[in-house]
Amino acid sequence: MTGAIEEAVIYLQQRFGVPPRVGLILGSGLGRLVQKLKGPERVAFKDIPGFPRSSVQGHPGEIICGYLEGVPLYVQAGRVHYYEGMDMGQVAMPMRVMASLGIKNVIITNAAGAVNQSYSPGDLVCLSDHINFMGDNPLRGGADFVDLTRVYSSRLRKIAHDRARRLGITLHSGVYCAFAGPCYETPAEIRAVRVLGADLVGMSTVPEAITAASLGVEVLGISAVTNMAAGITGQRLSHEEVIQTSARASERFIKLVSATVAGLGGQE
Ligand code: HPA
Repeated sequence: MTGAIEEAVIYLQQRFGVPPRVGLILGSGLGRLVQKLKGPERVAFKDIPGFPRSSVQGHPGEIICGYLEGVPLYVQAGRVHYYEGMDMGQVAMPMRVMASLGIKNVIITNAAGAVNQSYSPGDLVCLSDHINFMGDNPLRGGADFVDLTRVYSSRLRKIAHDRARRLGITLHSGVYCAFAGPCYETPAEIRAVRVLGADLVGMSTVPEAITAASLGVEVLGISAVTNMAAGITGQRLSHEEVIQTSARASERFIKLVSATVAGLGGQE
């Protein structure tokens, strides 16, 4: 553990009673899940030593520990993004903290644009794989040749799909392509990544997922589709629309994530 991570870990261990078993990163507009936590204890990013701070609307920047479906859960409400000017080390730092706290399973969520034209705004997608078009890598600076053959755990995906089926919630399976942002993509970029196998586009998740893979943390990725990607409908894209649509998907999202956490609860 480097000094900054150790300091943050010690601070969080002192603030939170029970060691959390499962981690959850909440994407834009998905923060309502926090209201379902029993016995929540909250800490703002700004109070955690060395923790990066987000300035984006819809990302309040708090860690909340509490019980969901009887499982001690560590929720990171908000995240820092590469497009805010952070370097990859800062973007990946919260995931390193989670791993150092002993978390072995993490659910990473985001709001994403649909490249796949069979998806609609409001749909939920379980990530099967990703394409890193951010032009950077959180492991840069080391010689950590991490295998990413299975960065999104098939075990966790199976649990999520199984729970979705039982709840009658449609859960697609798709490939997420990450751009650096902060602008949205051009229609030509969307056509290009569709040819390359992308179903979704976004500006997050990939740095955290790569970092988790390097630390042996199993990852489940869930996207809430907030818009059709650029050029598909011809409509202009806006952050307000992204926040509003993910808030609309949030009821199904909360049900699915809660049931998945319950499914993970008894397991390490
Ligand atoms: N592109 C990139 N990131 C996004 C989008 C999009 O269309 N929608 C939500 N996040």
